[in-house]
Amino acid sequence: MQSSQNRITQLFNIQYPIIQAGMIWHSGWRLASAVSNCGGLGLIGAGSMYPDILRENIQKCKQATDKPFGVNVPMLYPNLDEVIQIILEEGVKIVFTSAGNPKTYTETLQKEGLKVAHVVSSTKFAMKCEDAGVDAVVAEGFEAGGHNGRDETTTFCLIPNVRKHISRPLIAAGGIALGSQMKAAMILGADGVQIGSRFAATVEASAHENWKKKITELQEGDTHLTLKELAPVRMVKNKFFNELEGIYQTGRNTEALVTALGRARAKKGMFEGDMEEGELEIGQVSALIDEILPVETVFNNLLREFEETKMPVL
Ligand SMILES: Cc1cc2nc3c(=O)[nH]c(=O)nc-3n(C[C@H](O)[C@H](O)[C@H](O)COP(=O)(O)O)c2cc1C
Repeated sequence: MQSSQNRITQLFNIQYPIIQAGMIWHSGWRLASAVSNCGGLGLIGAGSMYPDILRENIQKCKQATDKPFGVNVPMLYPNLDEVIQIILEEGVKIVFTSAGNPKTYTETLQKEGLKVAHVVSSTKFAMKCEDAGVDAVVAEGFEAGGHNGRDETTTFCLIPNVRKHISRPLIAAGGIALGSQMKAAMILGADGVQIGSRFAATVEASAHENWKKKITELQEGDTHLTLKELAPVRMVKNKFFNELEGIYQTGRNTEALVTALGRARAKKGMFEGDMEEGELEIGQVSALIDEILPVETVFNNLLREFEETKMPVL
């Protein structure tokens, strides 16, 4: 892929419009700085970090790269004001907010000179982002790993619709692990891509080795979007998932779902490596991921495949 500039590369001052998604238990300073050093935009995932751990990760990332990087702030978790304060104190230049209202922090951050992107899963919310004045919108399709929308709109349907309704720079997410998929998303109207699952199975991701290996073994149909009553999330159909399914069969008791979920299931699975009792978040595209690779290889593969994917002729 030629590194000619577009709206996303100009906005974030990066070489290629490839963003590594913020991912709880995966995207610490090692992953984020490796992606930024390749010319993409690495994001530190604040969602699974206590405030002091976040500060440490930002400081280490600054040591590991002189390229731009950002922080993802999912608004699902506590200590949000403290997290934003740390981001400002540490001089971070880019923030991707998600799972909340884009109005909450956009203006505050922009006034301090930061660029703000917000993640949505529908055209309606993409339009709200535009009203909130965000610098870029990430539109995430049903295929994506982790938390998602309830409407089950696929990336293939979402991106052209969002493109039709907003004029801001648009980043496509969900189901992108190959250069051909990246090119397809950009043909549909995106200016860049946000990639999660493919970067989860990299050497630099901070997740447990059991989990990274498991990602490479997953087949089509092994994940499911569940917990729509609480916060919809795509996860692997393991023992924990079956427990949740059992609760659904007894009549969708939200309280029972909350109890089963507990607080630390995601950590137990993805960080501590318990493949049965833990919550394992990953996208449908895991069926296309066969190897744990260094970030540089993933990045070079994406660029090569992007180039090799030719437009079909009718
Ligand atoms: C393991 C995992 C953890 C995630 N954690 C977060 C998160 O903390 N914040 C967030 O905004 N999105 C999170 N996501 C969603 C990603 O940011 C991204 O939008 C998504 O992975 C893109 O789809 P893909 O997995 O098909 O590449 C997570 C995804 C995965 C796979």
